[in-house]
Amino acid sequence: SYDRPFIDSLPKAELHLHIEGTLEPELKLALARRNGVDIGQSTVEQVRATYDFTDLTSFLAVYYPAMEVLVTEQDFHDLAMAYFERAAADGVVRAEIFFDPQAHTSRGVPFASVVDGLWSAVQEARGLGVEAALIMCFLRDHSVKSAEETLATSLPYRDRILGVGLDSDERGNPPEKFAAVFDAAKQAGYRLTMHCDIDQEQSIANIATVLHRIGVERIDHGTNILEDGSLVAEAKERGIGFTCCPLSNSFVTEQMKGQEITDLLRQGLKVSVASDDPAYFGGYVGDNLEALAIAQELSREEVVQLARNSLEISWADPQRVDAWV
Ligand code: HPA
Ligand code: ZN
Repeated sequence: SYDRPFIDSLPKAELHLHIEGTLEPELKLALARRNGVDIGQSTVEQVRATYDFTDLTSFLAVYYPAMEVLVTEQDFHDLAMAYFERAAADGVVRAEIFFDPQAHTSRGVPFASVVDGLWSAVQEARGLGVEAALIMCFLRDHSVKSAEETLATSLPYRDRILGVGLDSDERGNPPEKFAAVFDAAKQAGYRLTMHCDIDQEQSIANIATVLHRIGVERIDHGTNILEDGSLVAEAKERGIGFTCCPLSNSFVTEQMKGQEITDLLRQGLKVSVASDDPAYFGGYVGDNLEALAIAQELSREEVVQLARNSLEISWADPQRVDAWV
C-alpha cells in the first residue's frame, strides 16, 4: 500500500460524493427492516450480488431502486452520519455532499424530510471535525419542468443549500437543457457545478457548454477536456476545479482514467480526487487517492497537491481554507 497513514493525515475536502451512494449494504438492510420495505434481499452477500454494472446506465439501474429504503427524516440523518464518520477517519475536514431530491420526492418523500435529515447531520458532523455543506443535484434525465419545480421547492431552504449540480444519465441530456434553470439558481445565490461524465458521445461539446454557457466553478469528472487543448488552457486560466473519481471510473468505464487525471494535475489544473458513490465503487476518498497514487506512481508532493487542490476549490470560507492548507 502507498503509505496510507500519510494519505489519511492530509487535510482534504470531499467534493464529489452522492450521499445516496454511501448507502452500505448493512445500512440498506437495517433501513429496509426499520421501514418494512421488501428489497428482495436479506443478506449483505445478496445485496452485493445485485451490484452488477458495467457502465453508468447499468449502475443507475441498481442505484435508484436501492433508495426505496430511505423514507424518513431519520433515515437521511443516519445515512449522512454514517458517511461523516467515515469521512472523519479519512482526514476529510470539508465535505460538500450531493443529494438528489427528485429521486425521493418522485417516490412521495417530502423535500423537507430529505433536507431536514441531512441538515441535522451536517450540524452534528462538526463534532467529528467535519465541516459539511449540501449541494442539490437535478436529475438530467428528468424534465426541465421537474428541475424548475425542485428549484422553487428548495428556495425556503436556501440558507441550508450551498449550490446546485447536475447528475444522472448524460446521454441525450446535455447541459444546455438546464441552462435556464442554472441561470435561475445562480440568481438565487447558489454556487454551480455540473457532471461531465467520462467518455460521453459529446464530452467535449458538453464541457465547452458548461464552461461558456452555464458558467460553472467546478466540473465533476470532466477529464475528457484533455481532448481539446484550448479548453484545457482556458480551464487552467480560470482555475476551474475538477473532481475526479478513479474507482468510479473503473466501474463505469474500463479503467480508472488515472493517466488523464495525472496529466491534468501535472499541467497545473485544479484537479482533486473524490469518491462519487463509495458504497458501490469500493472505496472512500482515501481509497481513491491510494489507488491513483499506486497506479500512477505519484510522488508524495503530487498527493499533497491533490489534497490541497480539493480544499482550494471547495466553497468553504477562504479563511478556513487558508487554515487547512
Ligand atoms: N454520474 C452521473 N450520475 C450519478 C453519478 C455519476 O457519477 N453518481 C450518482 N449519480
Ligand atoms: Zn457523480
